[in-house]
Amino acid sequence: MGELRLEELSASTIVAVNNMSLKPGQEEFLSPVSYGIAATVVNPQTSWQRVVLDGDDVVGFISGNFDPDFPQEHFRSVLWRINVDADDQGRGVGRFAVEGLLGEARERGMSHVNVIYEAGEGGPQAFFHRVGFEPVGETEYGEVIAETRL
Ligand SMILES: CC(C)(COP(=O)(O)OP(=O)(O)OC[C@H]1O[C@@H](n2cnc3c(N)ncnc32)[C@H](O)[C@@H]1OP(=O)(O)O)[C@@H](O)C(=O)NCCC(=O)NCCS
Repeated sequence: MGELRLEELSASTIVAVNNMSLKPGQEEFLSPVSYGIAATVVNPQTSWQRVVLDGDDVVGFISGNFDPDFPQEHFRSVLWRINVDADDQGRGVGRFAVEGLLGEARERGMSHVNVIYEAGEGGPQAFFHRVGFEPVGETEYGEVIAETRL
């Protein structure tokens, strides 16, 4: 693996992001119900997205939302979506992307970052734990709300 870097989404990377593959069984964890509902009220100006590049290859994608006025507390400083291409999982790409997002949150003066995920075999729970998120609650749909303090 070369040196990883984060870049803004561009016309040349957006297609590669959309074509990233998942490992079997991962699809069901991609979009917890709470995110789908919150997405309808997210202000595009408060959302943040980055592509992870390894040389010229798109290997991952991460997005977040930083909006102190968001109605629900756990969506005010939140990791919205992360995925790493199936062939590049397990090599530190996800950790690198999360560190980039935490750096952005710090620069914006946030005290913490939340993530909402569905617990279960094949899901991202172990990953979020390894990169510093601890469960702090549950959504009305039974998803885990986890948090890392900055
Ligand atoms: C979750 C995901 C982003 C992790 O990315 P990744 O690049 O494979 O993770 P990393 O290689 O950076 O791993 C970071 C740490 O988490 C651990 N980890 C990652 N996946 C793990 C798993 N399934 N089980 C146990 N530990 C895991 C790694 O061992 C590593 O630990 P260490 O650094 O302490 O040794 C990736 O598996 C993915 O894209 N999954 C599908 C999409 C998804 O579920 N996204 C989350 C919901 S939006």
